[in-house]
Amino acid sequence: MKKIPVIIDCDPGHDDMVALILALGNEGLDVKLITNVAGNKVIEKVTNNTLNILNYCGADVEVAAGARQPLVRGYRRTDTEGAHGLSGLDGFDFPGDNPLRVSDRTALEAAADILKESEEKVTFVCTGPLSNMGLLIRAYPDLCREKIREISIMGGTCHFILTKPFMEFNTYFDAEASKIVFESGIPLVMYGYDVTYKALFQEDFLEKLENLGNKTGHMMAELLRKFTDLHNRVWLDLGGCPVHDACAVAGVIDRSLIKKSDSMYVEIMTEPGPLSGATVCDYEHRSGKPENAEVVFELDLERFLNLILESAGRLA
Ligand code: BDR
Ligand code: CA
Repeated sequence: MKKIPVIIDCDPGHDDMVALILALGNEGLDVKLITNVAGNKVIEKVTNNTLNILNYCGADVEVAAGARQPLVRGYRRTDTEGAHGLSGLDGFDFPGDNPLRVSDRTALEAAADILKESEEKVTFVCTGPLSNMGLLIRAYPDLCREKIREISIMGGTCHFILTKPFMEFNTYFDAEASKIVFESGIPLVMYGYDVTYKALFQEDFLEKLENLGNKTGHMMAELLRKFTDLHNRVWLDLGGCPVHDACAVAGVIDRSLIKKSDSMYVEIMTEPGPLSGATVCDYEHRSGKPENAEVVFELDLERFLNLILESAGRLA
């Protein structure tokens, strides 16, 4: 089977951890590179978390660190407990003797080199703020247009308004970068809160992870138990816990998992103020502006969770 080449840009984060494992354990994907971006926590923490995840599940992919802060605004404070704890990945004690190291190349250098060298188009999965992606598009516009097949984004929200504030973290965190990406003309698929807050797992899923009997399943169950507690207490309790970022990987692995989506024009608000970072989705196609994203509203939850279990079972 021909594998799909992907680059994952992330800020782990519990749900980024699930996204990484879903991708690394799936036989249909070839993960060429993992880049990190400041978001859930500062760049040092999210990079350290990425290396710990890879080492623990026995994967070895180049990890390159990228943007330390949003393109225009200063770094936004993420030193409170939040939904991911102070480390960004609270809930599991990773071994202290990790031999994996961050790449000498920056995220921008590594991603550009891979695009240049690749004979086929590469898919990006972005599960953090879009700072790295925005920089890449600004630095290498032609290369990006020629060599990127699609950018699968966990970000934004069309009409899911139960959160506080009502906009989604990744597009809010770097609104200007989000605008560059959404205006790039590169095919985009947006997995926002509309779909990710429907893709909830329950305790039985954690038991299935434990029952895999391997290290990866155990680590995921521990981390996701902690995440359920943090997320549902600090953020929002809908009677289950989301793994937002994994949705953006799942759709790349198998498009038929998407049960409902629609192409539309999505505008990113960047004016300073309470709406900065909001994704205004032209759901009813009234603006006359060209569609720039496929917005996903529903995934096949059972198959999605099974795909995560399958990937976790293939790792250490
Ligand atoms: C997004 O914000 C982060 O906390 C998660 O990792 C996810 O990427 C959800 O809004
Ligand atoms: Ca994330």
